[in-house]
Amino acid sequence: DKVYLNGSIVNSADAKVSVFDRGFIFGDGLYEVMVQINGRFFYEKEHLERLQSGLQKINIEFDVSLLKNEILTLLKVASLTDKDCMLYIQITRGVAPRQHSFPGDIKPTVMMYAVPKVLPEINTVNAHVITRNDFRWSRCDIKMTSLLGNVMLNEEAMQLECYETILNRDGVFTEASHSNLFFVKNGVVYTHPANEYILNGITRIVVIELCHSLGIEIKETPISLAELNTIDEAFLTGTSTQIAAIQQIDDYKLYTGNEKGPVTQRLQEAFLKLR
Ligand code: PDD
Repeated sequence: DKVYLNGSIVNSADAKVSVFDRGFIFGDGLYEVMVQINGRFFYEKEHLERLQSGLQKINIEFDVSLLKNEILTLLKVASLTDKDCMLYIQITRGVAPRQHSFPGDIKPTVMMYAVPKVLPEINTVNAHVITRNDFRWSRCDIKMTSLLGNVMLNEEAMQLECYETILNRDGVFTEASHSNLFFVKNGVVYTHPANEYILNGITRIVVIELCHSLGIEIKETPISLAELNTIDEAFLTGTSTQIAAIQQIDDYKLYTGNEKGPVTQRLQEAFLKLR
């Protein structure tokens, strides 16, 4: 397995990072996940722009555009050029003696790897999800590597053999542990606005644009816990999730069998055409 680390491509067993890397000590870093489908990265520009703007938010100086050629080389060495695959990029602040504040001249640690991954044309999952209190911090717009909150919340779903954990904060639904959350009510699509309580997913943005182009009314307005029993459909979005229909939320069943709602289906079909 080949890994890109700070300008070199090496075998993963030879890729060494200091234990004093602030990514290891503090989770002080960012990541991106994107997929190559049919020989091109799906919304690569948007993923790299989000990474660049995230770096700016946390004052890590690094020019993400430098990675474009490195990604091509990595894919070549990993024999994944033109193959369906998943690319992981991680940029941590770098190595320094452990102290919360960071030195000004610190050099970021940049790591990337790609693995084969074929996404189904349409996500056929009929997801069962659980609801939990969103106890994460209030800068969820930053795609940071410190994912302990997300890990703990996701693990609860796995223990209960569910697909995801959907989160609520102050009585409204925000997002899920590793995906964004949408509802449909009386033909209108609802999702939490892109503020500091959610990650503004690239798939989320694409789905909102699809609603506009299909003439489906979309409101970036949160759905409250109290409204849950009035919704008609719900679905999750994310890079590898694509669009996953939610069949059941805790004990509340939205549909049976494969009979997911018409709006979810329409968006899934339109999404497929973008690949
Ligand atoms: N997860 N919200 C959270 C908390 C996420 O971690 C993700 C992505 C999303 C969806 O974002 P996008 O559509 O840009 O993938 C929303 C990634 C894929 C992960 O952690 O593996």
